[in-house]
Amino acid sequence: MGLINLISLNSKGDERGHLVAIEARNEIPFDIKRVYYIFGTESLSRGFHAHKELVQLAVCVKGSCTMLLDDGFSRESVILDSPFYGILIPKMAWREMHNFSQDCVLLVLASEYYCEADYIRDYQEFLIEVENAKK
Ligand code: TYD
Repeated sequence: MGLINLISLNSKGDERGHLVAIEARNEIPFDIKRVYYIFGTESLSRGFHAHKELVQLAVCVKGSCTMLLDDGFSRESVILDSPFYGILIPKMAWREMHNFSQDCVLLVLASEYYCEADYIRDYQEFLIEVENAKK
């Protein structure tokens, strides 16, 4: 399986517009403890970290951005530009977000509460942790 795991989100659309529902342990394989959204990014890049335990689903509900994932062996990126799918970001994946459109709103569903200790913000440290996990 590749690094990019897109989850298709069904819209209950009708003549009144679209409605996308995401249920924990139904559309996504984790319980949701936290929701946040990123917007007004002024085209700067974000991310540049991995998480030891956190699993997330990111949905670009408006506009577009590029999500890059790196498992320590290879990196792949995908353009997120649709509210009809989300990208599953597993634990121990280095992520970078680039090319935010001005109107981009990136919704993120997270499996854990915010915890700075769960972050790996140094890429070399990330590679060492990946190596250690193999042992
Ligand atoms: P960070 O995760 O570093 O942002 P990004 O990866 O998108 O560049 O978070 C930016 C700041 O916001 C940082 O000071 C931590 C804080 N923050 C919270 O307080 N709660 C949260 O749920 C998140 C995601 C971040």
